[in-house]
Amino acid sequence: MTTLSIIKADTGGFVGHSEVHPDMLAAATAAVAAATADGLLIDGKVSRCGDDISLIMTHDHGPDAERVHTFAWETFLRTTEIAKRLGLYGAGQDLLSDAFSGNLRGMGPGYAELEFTERPSEPVICFLADKTEPGAWNLPLYKMFADPFNTAGLVIDEKMHDGFRFEVYDLYEEKRITFDTPRDSYDMLMFIGAPARYVVHSVESIKLGIPAAATSTQRLSLIAGRYVGKDDPVMIVRCQSGLPAVGEVLEPFAFPYAVAGCMRGSHHAPIMPVGLAQATPARFDGPPRVAALGFQITQGRLIGPRDMFADPSFDRARSQANEAMDYFRRHGPFEPHRLPLSDLEYTTMSALESKMADRWESMRPVSTAPAPA
Ligand code: F6R
Ligand code: MG
Ligand code: MG
Repeated sequence: MTTLSIIKADTGGFVGHSEVHPDMLAAATAAVAAATADGLLIDGKVSRCGDDISLIMTHDHGPDAERVHTFAWETFLRTTEIAKRLGLYGAGQDLLSDAFSGNLRGMGPGYAELEFTERPSEPVICFLADKTEPGAWNLPLYKMFADPFNTAGLVIDEKMHDGFRFEVYDLYEEKRITFDTPRDSYDMLMFIGAPARYVVHSVESIKLGIPAAATSTQRLSLIAGRYVGKDDPVMIVRCQSGLPAVGEVLEPFAFPYAVAGCMRGSHHAPIMPVGLAQATPARFDGPPRVAALGFQITQGRLIGPRDMFADPSFDRARSQANEAMDYFRRHGPFEPHRLPLSDLEYTTMSALESKMADRWESMRPVSTAPAPA
């Protein structure tokens, strides 16, 4: 079995929250090369989207492997050191604890991991996003795996007719549920249409019984209890031969749908599919970006990446994203550009609410009737 792990963290931005400094990428690349030479990893690549570094790694230790998570943590400590030395912004931002004990759960960095038996040819897409949250994958995953208007294979390929099983996490209550589509599609949409709380964690093929997709489902604000940046999620999707084709996996991003994130993690804004050269959110800390790195995995080796959104067929989505951004921006501090209060609960907004608490006067009529016995 091969495990593909993407482990990512924002360990400092260059400039502000817009990109990762080349020295940090160089240090992470050297660390991954050393871990590959040592035999911990079969292969590894380093990439980035906005201010987040992603370590894309293959190995045979399975998900949640202590050695792999420890390696990633130590690599992020190293990039944090560089960020501190260069005075970069938010150095070590996502490393929430000093007491790492072998597993990244609840520690700040995000990760998506998929363990599978390699098929004769194994195309996968690694999606990296910045300035948004894990629920941002809900809409495209639904389209890829459950919407025949997106994925022709759901109609045309007999291997896809039995549908796909979605595993959904409730991030507030820390519980999970599975839905089989198309049977449970409407029930599932009731939940995943609220992506701040319900997040698709994984998808598998019902007919083939193989894992198809995995996302990072951490929510930093829930871990830290305060705003420390959006989670800037990553996702792995396997493609072809009874799973959605590469073009069907990319198709949902031709529509720059609205996600939560952008400036101060507190605004709805369109997600813009971009090549790596443009994965540098600038305007109003946005618009949120998504990059797609395509690989063929061959005996664990990562053949690639191909920069899948660096393609003119996504030009229109980018220009629509810019138009939608203009539209949202004109709302200024008003909803629906700004997130509803319930989603601002864990931001600095809550401090402001307590500051104002004394200034609110009740307008309810004061009852003069004697209290009931
Ligand atoms: C987005 C993000 C930024 C910051 C903003 C203010 O994920 O992190 O939008 O929230 O730039 O940053 P501070 O409060 O550090 O000045
Ligand atoms: Mg940052
Ligand atoms: Mg980021």
